[in-house]
Amino acid sequence: MKGIILAGGLGSRLRPLTLVTNKHLLPVYDRPMIYYPIQCLLNAGIDEILVVTGGEHAGDFLKLLKNGKQLGVRHLEYAYQEGEGGIADALKLAEEFADGGKICVILGDNIIEGNIRKAAADFFTQRTGAKVILKEVPDPQRFGVVEFDGEPAKGKIKRIIEKPKDPPSNMAVTGIYFYDPDCFKVCKELKPSGRGELEITDVNNYYLQRGDLTADVLEGWWTDAGTFESLYRATKYVAESGANLLDLTGPRPGMFGTQARG
Ligand code: G1P
Repeated sequence: MKGIILAGGLGSRLRPLTLVTNKHLLPVYDRPMIYYPIQCLLNAGIDEILVVTGGEHAGDFLKLLKNGKQLGVRHLEYAYQEGEGGIADALKLAEEFADGGKICVILGDNIIEGNIRKAAADFFTQRTGAKVILKEVPDPQRFGVVEFDGEPAKGKIKRIIEKPKDPPSNMAVTGIYFYDPDCFKVCKELKPSGRGELEITDVNNYYLQRGDLTADVLEGWWTDAGTFESLYRATKYVAESGANLLDLTGPRPGMFGTQARG
């Protein structure tokens, strides 16, 4: 299984910091933000990675990551997103890279304490469809939120609502997704939302309606880092927990190489 990190956007909520570089290269404690999603994928055994970025600072990624070998990435590619079409629009650029296989997609500003190794292994054996990773949050209005069908404890999802004013639960959909190759067709057929973007939540709802969406609840903390408040929180969490920090001593063996496509 291959990994895709979505690291585009203008980072307008972090100006003036993002006037001089891309949001995902800003520091979170002792390393650039993008190291954390890379680490998350590597920890799950995924070492073929595509970074989708955009904007005028896209070249900074190459300066930092080079070919990825120093971080233990076996194969690193880049794609350039023109404009501000949203997460599902950025995902379209990964179709060729995915090459008909399953993918793990992670937003470049999502940082987790634990790991998604089990979720990745489970999705590897899931025949088709998608999997989302959930986490309870105190501020669900900021995220895609799960509306449960019946008792939340039973975990049956009715739908996912993007940034609801009146959230039906505290269960947010994190920016970590697993998809089968149908996701690209779905992205191409999406219509822009009210904020003019192709929403990843619409992709997830497509799989839900198809009866082909599974969900896991993440253990340990999760945060995004796209606002000053969440960037500060991310730095604090990492500094205090020393979370799963990338071991830069050498490459890790991949579990999901191209030869073992699911
Ligand atoms: C995006 C998604 C949202 C998800 C969040 C996770 O929000 O649209 O569903 O919960 O990432 O970080 P955005 O970063 O565009 O505000």
